[in-house]
Amino acid sequence: AKIKEVDFVKSSIRAKDCPQDERPEFAMLGRSNVGKSSLINFLVRKKEVALTSKKPGKTQLINHFLVNKSWYIVDLPGYGFANAPDSAIMDWSSFTKGYFLNRESLVSVLLLIDASVPPKKIDLDCANWLGRNNIPLTFVFTKCDKTKAAKGRRPDENIREFQELIKDNYRQKHPPWIMTSSVTGLGRDELLLHMSQLRNY
Ligand code: GTP
Ligand code: MG
Repeated sequence: AKIKEVDFVKSSIRAKDCPQDERPEFAMLGRSNVGKSSLINFLVRKKEVALTSKKPGKTQLINHFLVNKSWYIVDLPGYGFANAPDSAIMDWSSFTKGYFLNRESLVSVLLLIDASVPPKKIDLDCANWLGRNNIPLTFVFTKCDKTKAAKGRRPDENIREFQELIKDNYRQKHPPWIMTSSVTGLGRDELLLHMSQLRNY
């Protein structure tokens, strides 16, 4: 599961502008500022492959990165960002939903959840929407290094509560989940192994 090279391929405005390609891909989805772009840099061990920012709303397009010339990581704009330009809010659902529903080479969505805060309704709604539409999903909890978390709650407590809340909707098959930190390196090997298993499935 070694990453030897990563090439930025293109930024697309709409699903239909994405690379016409059958190589497998994984899409990073989650609230603005959850750490999608950071997770890409952490996986490929390059500082600024995907651009990150302290301010939410950094990523505005569908960005394709080709790994080892054989599979893609896709960086997507975050959802739930109230201060985004109006056009960005309006476009988010139609453009990303179009991508999820029509992208045949999509192996799994990596749904990123911030483990340093209690569960958010918008994340639960998103997981439920993906589940209803039978889109393969992996939960990736980010920022697990933040032990002094909001409201005095620890990442493991937030994660447990999130799993309790999601359980009923995934009675048959619980999506896999992986704990990560792009600061400490937690979860990198596990996530890369998981992705390689899904690609070869
Ligand atoms: P948008 O592109 O705006 O949707 O955001 P994003 O999800 O791509 O977030 P991004 O990767 O830009 O990270 C947002 C902020 O969170 C940055 O300040 C990162 O340094 C920080 N961050 C990301 N991952 C981690 C992590 O694992 N631990 C900690 N402590 N901070 C993190
Ligand atoms: Mg981003």
